[in-house]
Amino acid sequence: MNPNTDFIPFARPSFSEDEENAVLDVLRSGWLTTGAVTAKLEAKTAEASDVKHALAVNSATSGLHLALEASGVGAGDLVITTPYTFTATAEIIRYCGAHPLFVDIEKDSFNISAENILKALESHKGSGSRITAVIPVHVGGQLCGRDAIEAAAEEYNLAVIEDGAHLQPSPLLTGNRSILVYSFYATKCITTGEGGMVVTNNDEAAQRMKMMRFHGINREAWDRYRKKGTSSWEYDITAAGFKYNLPDILSAVGIVQLEKAEQMQARRQEIAAQYDEAFGDSDMLVIPPAANNASRHLYILRIQPEKLVISRDELVHMLSEAGIGISVHYKPLHLMSYYSSMYGLKPEDFPESLKKYRTSFSIPIYPDLTETEISRIISTVLDTCKQNRR
Ligand SMILES: Cc1ncc(COP(=O)(O)O)c(C=O)c1O
Repeated sequence: MNPNTDFIPFARPSFSEDEENAVLDVLRSGWLTTGAVTAKLEAKTAEASDVKHALAVNSATSGLHLALEASGVGAGDLVITTPYTFTATAEIIRYCGAHPLFVDIEKDSFNISAENILKALESHKGSGSRITAVIPVHVGGQLCGRDAIEAAAEEYNLAVIEDGAHLQPSPLLTGNRSILVYSFYATKCITTGEGGMVVTNNDEAAQRMKMMRFHGINREAWDRYRKKGTSSWEYDITAAGFKYNLPDILSAVGIVQLEKAEQMQARRQEIAAQYDEAFGDSDMLVIPPAANNASRHLYILRIQPEKLVISRDELVHMLSEAGIGISVHYKPLHLMSYYSSMYGLKPEDFPESLKKYRTSFSIPIYPDLTETEISRIISTVLDTCKQNRR
């Protein structure tokens, strides 16, 4: 329940007593960190995603880093990605000592353009630089042009790491090349508070990520301590790994969330359909593309600047004052001081990203929104726009 009935938060998790009881069971079991409950969450995610391997991690950021590392991305490499994303997508490239090679998004969506990926690959031919991977982001749940991206990856021998932070476990991966990473962060489709899951059909990458997510130890703690007689203190360190495992306390929440995922998904689709209908006819607003959206994680509206006397920022301020939680997806990374100064990037370098950023705002979309709240969001957005029509 939202304690402040005047304010509709931008995001709110859907929890019931089931999640509470699942956590209590783990607390009372005596085993808190990664163990049988996490293994169950992994098995269920692998099944829901129809993949060979699902590896639980403590965030999508960790999972993306593991995926790049397992793909052999190293110091000085270039990794193609989009500026229209959260910094996690690009910072993990820097964790590997590699550099992001940003390419602009499509005209008709918020996603990286496969055509621009190919242009970047072609223009770097013979330059001596090593482009080793591409990280597409499925913004708001809308799937990128995966066939074209995979074809380019095949041609140029690139690893494909899909940032699926906005997706929920579902059968999306085909083939052996891609590694897809889900986020279970507090605002995401299903949540464990903090957490994530890496899925792949690639046996070799899965083996490497499994080892690297837990210190580079060749056996996990669970294997070492679980059974009388079979437990052994001995282990080897085969690489300088990371501490990226997901504890059972959080996995317990994930299992319950995964069981409800389809139901929650259906509700998001319903809300999106209501928004599409309410805003679709307005000449002051552009609704997000509905095609190929696998999760409806975000509902990103855009203003038509020539129809309004106010800017996107002023509109966001007015909506927030009226008690609607609003977010902006995204302030592109090339406008952030770290990336702009590190790589000498200017706002106009990625015109589509800049245009979308200046006009976009995201409204609440989550299963626990009530019909009254949905009506209030719709009328507040429409009324505020009408009052400020040019
Ligand atoms: C597109 C995108 N990628 C990656 C992440 C990182 O997810 P996490 O918080 O689970 O590390 C986020 C989180 O907001 C995101 O939106």
